[in-house]
Amino acid sequence: MSLDASTSVRAEEADEAASDSITEPRNHRTQNNTSQALSVRFDNVCRAFPGKNSNEPHVVLKDITLDVVPGEVLAILGPSGSGKSTLLRAASGLDAPTRGTVLIDGTPVNGIDDRCAVAFQEPRLLPWQNIHKNVELGLPQGTPKAEAQERVRRLLELVELDDYAHLRPREVSGGMAQRTSLARALARRPGVLLLDEPFGALDALTRLKMQDLLLQVHEAHPTTVLLVTHDVDEALQLADRIVVLGRKPRETAASVAHVFTVPGDRPRNRSDEQLGRMRLTLLSGLGVDTHRH
Ligand SMILES: Nc1ncnc2c1ncn2[C@@H]1O[C@H](COP(=O)(O)OP(=O)(O)OP(=O)(O)O)[C@@H](O)[C@H]1O
Ligand SMILES: [Mg+2]
Repeated sequence: MSLDASTSVRAEEADEAASDSITEPRNHRTQNNTSQALSVRFDNVCRAFPGKNSNEPHVVLKDITLDVVPGEVLAILGPSGSGKSTLLRAASGLDAPTRGTVLIDGTPVNGIDDRCAVAFQEPRLLPWQNIHKNVELGLPQGTPKAEAQERVRRLLELVELDDYAHLRPREVSGGMAQRTSLARALARRPGVLLLDEPFGALDALTRLKMQDLLLQVHEAHPTTVLLVTHDVDEALQLADRIVVLGRKPRETAASVAHVFTVPGDRPRNRSDEQLGRMRLTLLSGLGVDTHRH
């Protein structure tokens, strides 16, 4: 196939978009083809950014120490700006802590790490590729063709998009696009799945369906999940544990304020009393007036 000027620009954009979403320049990747859930350890992680008008750094995260066991679903809650995305970026290797280390399966994350896959609030699909191709983009480089086809077929089936694989992102709904993004993240069989408000832009009903789908996906593909969400009910439905990030008065840096173990096996009864009490504790911990909610 010959490339004209516009296709080569598009090819560049494609590389850029892909690297922005779940992949980074391929030569930076550690080669790994994990299909097993892996542990994650945040060991005294701190992250500071240059301060705006002074020489004082803007410390965002301070002394984050957390152990996530293989296969666990850990939800991360916290006020806007408390560093939730920054923490996920440190785990994926998209960003590096200023101090401290993130270890996956006991080895430090040092640059973009193929053991992780990331999905964001926006699906970040390539608009000129169809759904099938967008999922295929998540496969590790060098996956043999027959295996690639089979893996994509199964993933499309899992996220119920097998009948829509020929459509382009603009021809599908927001929920379908987000299911595509999830399938693309799973295509590389990550040991750790990092989800940054993955259902945040969806309507309430689609969101509930996506939560069920995530539980199915988690059963079908053993992986450790770090889920950033603003939705307390979502955290209570999906997580084994919930970590709340918070700042002390007069501090800019957030650290782990609370860790809750969520009782009961999944799928959980949404009207369970114990969960209801935990919901109120979480909401008030996040500064929400629980008399109104
Ligand atoms: N690359 C960067 N350079 C400078 N500051 C940054 C950078 N990335 C994040 N920050 C700052 O770090 C803080 C935490 O940002 P982060 O996006 O991690 O918060 P968050 O908890 O994910 O918020 P939200 O819930 O709104 O998504 C913010 O004050 C943000 O401005
Ligand atoms: Mg964020």
